[in-house]
Amino acid sequence: MDEPRLKLAIQKSGRLTDPSLDVLVRCGLKISRGKDQLMAYGENMPLDVLFVRDDDIPDLVQEDVCDLGLVGLNVLEEKRLELAARGHPVRFQALRTLDFGRCRLVLAVPQEHPYEGVASLQGKRIATTYPYLLEQYLREHAVSAEIVTLSGAVEIAPRLGRADLICDLVSTGSTLQANHLREVQTVLESHAVLIRTPLALAPLKSEWVERLVMRLDGVQQVRESKYIMLHAPRAALAEIRRLLPGSEFPTIIPLEGSPDKVAVHAVCRENVFWETLERLKKAGASALLVLPVEKMLS
Ligand code: PRP
Ligand code: ZN
Repeated sequence: MDEPRLKLAIQKSGRLTDPSLDVLVRCGLKISRGKDQLMAYGENMPLDVLFVRDDDIPDLVQEDVCDLGLVGLNVLEEKRLELAARGHPVRFQALRTLDFGRCRLVLAVPQEHPYEGVASLQGKRIATTYPYLLEQYLREHAVSAEIVTLSGAVEIAPRLGRADLICDLVSTGSTLQANHLREVQTVLESHAVLIRTPLALAPLKSEWVERLVMRLDGVQQVRESKYIMLHAPRAALAEIRRLLPGSEFPTIIPLEGSPDKVAVHAVCRENVFWETLERLKKAGASALLVLPVEKMLS
């Protein structure tokens, strides 16, 4: 009998597409994908990737068409509120928060418009593709405004006279800038989330979900980690160890022909910024080298 295969839905084209594929490759998945194909076959894991509209991902997983989905918290939360408003149960389950796809749902007004806090939203028309999140935000802030629900191109609504301001996603901010809009309030901070079907999985599938989640955790840990090497005067060792970000037990190695100095090697579980290197150098370190960590299993 054929091994059952997991189906994982990701965004077809957009903010999450490349980072989602990237993280799967880092988890060891080899996929073949022709351009414009709707599904990619996992060659070395019983897992296939489906490319779909991000807004469809919660439903696909909720209805068990796909076992897993990678989707933005913004889409998930909007769907959660929509289901609740319709009296339907929310059945998809969040497995992991992921460290990519960061963006935020914001309120933005035309550049020249004054804005003096949430109260100035009273009676305004707000264009959005996130009516449920916006409605919740307005309710929580005891403001009543008209929600103009659009299916896209929200940022041009004020110029067309369809709305006074917008509630839309921002990541780099270039869309807002190009449309002469200014961010005034954050409604939701978002990032990618891995969700799973509410139904029980066959044992083999379930085993692979566990492996995938464990690898995802490893990938996230490694992304921030660096291997740092440097030379330090013995006298400055204590200070230098204190400056190494998130490292517990550095390896200290004597240097041939240089009795006052040692080499220090350490895994830092946080990013090593230029500022840290400058501080280390000031403390007496030399020959500083920072390397990326590829895999980690502890
Ligand atoms: C959002 C939003 C803007 C853009 C902002 O669309 O509607 O168009 O991203 O990004 P920026 O700040 O980097 O310019 P998204 O890509 O999520 O498309 P979708 O809503 O159709 O899925
Ligand atoms: Zn979308």
